[in-house]
Amino acid sequence: MAGNRTFTMIKPDAVEKGHIGAILEQITASGFRIVAMKLTQMTSRDAEKFYEVHSERPFYGELVEFMSRGPIVAAILEKENAVEDFRTLIGATNPEDAAEGTIRKKYAASVGENAVHGSDSDENAQLEGAFHFAGREMF
Ligand code: RTP
Ligand code: MG
Repeated sequence: MAGNRTFTMIKPDAVEKGHIGAILEQITASGFRIVAMKLTQMTSRDAEKFYEVHSERPFYGELVEFMSRGPIVAAILEKENAVEDFRTLIGATNPEDAAEGTIRKKYAASVGENAVHGSDSDENAQLEGAFHFAGREMF
C-alpha cells in the first residue's frame, strides 16, 4: 500500500531566485500538509551522503557541489499517495521534459539545477526525512 508521506527539498537554485514562497504555495494548494520544515544548508559531506546512490554517476561531483552551495528548504509532506503525487506535481527531472504547470517546468533552469527534490519511494521518503529531522521536529 502506498504511504502518505514524502520528503522534499527546495534546492539552492530556487532559494537563490526567491521562489520559496511560490513553491510552498503550490505544494499546499495541491493538498499536501507540512509535517516538518526548515531552512538549512547541507555540507558537502551531507550532500555526498544524501545522494550516495548516485556516487558512480558522472554528475555526482557537480550534484554534491550544487546541493551544498547555499541554503535549502527541507520538508516532510503528508497526503494520500504522497510519493507518487508529489513526483507528478514537480514534473520530470529535466525541466524540458516536465509537464506544463509543474514546479520544475516553472522554476527549474536545467536537469542539474532543477529547483526541487522529491523522494522516489516510501522507503526513501522515510530515510530522507529522518536524515534531516528529529522526531520532535515532526508535527
Ligand atoms: P531528485 O532525486 O533530486 O528528486 O531528482 P530525480 O529523482 O528527478 O532525479 P535523480 O535521477 O534522482 O537525480 C538526482 C539529481 O541529480 C541531478 N542530475 N543531474 N547532469 C545530469 O545529467 C543530472 N542528472 C541528474 C539533478 O539535480 C537530479 O534532480
Ligand atoms: Mg531522485
